[in-house]
Amino acid sequence: MNSRRPCIGGNWKMNTRLEDALLLARSVAEGVDTIDDCVDVVVYPPFPWITHVADVLSGSRVALGAQDVSSHGDGAYTGQISAGMLLDSGCTKVLVGHSERRHGLGESNSLLNEKALAALESGLEVMLCIGETLEERDSGRTNEVVATQVAECLSGVEAGSMARMTIAYEPVWAIGTGRTAEPGDAQEVHAGIRTQLADLYDAPIAAGMRILYGGSMKPGNAGELLEQADIDGGLIGGASLDSDEFLSIINATMTQGSAD
Ligand code: 13P
Repeated sequence: MNSRRPCIGGNWKMNTRLEDALLLARSVAEGVDTIDDCVDVVVYPPFPWITHVADVLSGSRVALGAQDVSSHGDGAYTGQISAGMLLDSGCTKVLVGHSERRHGLGESNSLLNEKALAALESGLEVMLCIGETLEERDSGRTNEVVATQVAECLSGVEAGSMARMTIAYEPVWAIGTGRTAEPGDAQEVHAGIRTQLADLYDAPIAAGMRILYGGSMKPGNAGELLEQADIDGGLIGGASLDSDEFLSIINATMTQGSAD
């Protein structure tokens, strides 16, 4: 780790029923209360539970985010949810570009760019998810794919908004598969993203940007990933559904050095 404040996010995806969601949120909030205040924690529950989870998290150190947002403001967009609605529901954060939306639902970089801009414009903090498929990795195109995602998704995002942006590098082949990127391989991609941010913006913005790793991060492998110089936390899927596992990953941020 390094001087950037670490962040651990729990993406619950389309999991939990209301009762499970409330129990999980309560356990995470209680657990985080017992941990030193030197890590940011956020959970991203399914949409219907957001206001309920907001009540449980109220007064806790756990922030609330949504898993997606519309690129549009309020209007005739059946089934979509605007950034303003998320804010009214208690969210301060939102995921944009998760691979299950890119690859499962065909969301393009240009649509994700519009979503990021709409979310930032409304005041939400954005976690922009990027990552290559196995085929792209095997054909040696990881850096090119990731760089294109970063450039196209951040198009038009002003330097002044970058403090409300976090990037999550999630190699698609590592999500939900039990296969994790080798810490050194992930570090290389993270360092490349940081260099690109320095080119697109400037060195202080690049140095301050938190770049999280996601993809089968578990208590057993979190430590070696988090100790990489450019890995500033994790976006957790499966292991975030178990409060003990999630808290154990949060705790792993404490055991890493704090200077680079
Ligand atoms: P897993 O931790 O289940 O691999 O999911 C990662 C992820 O997609 C987080 O957004």
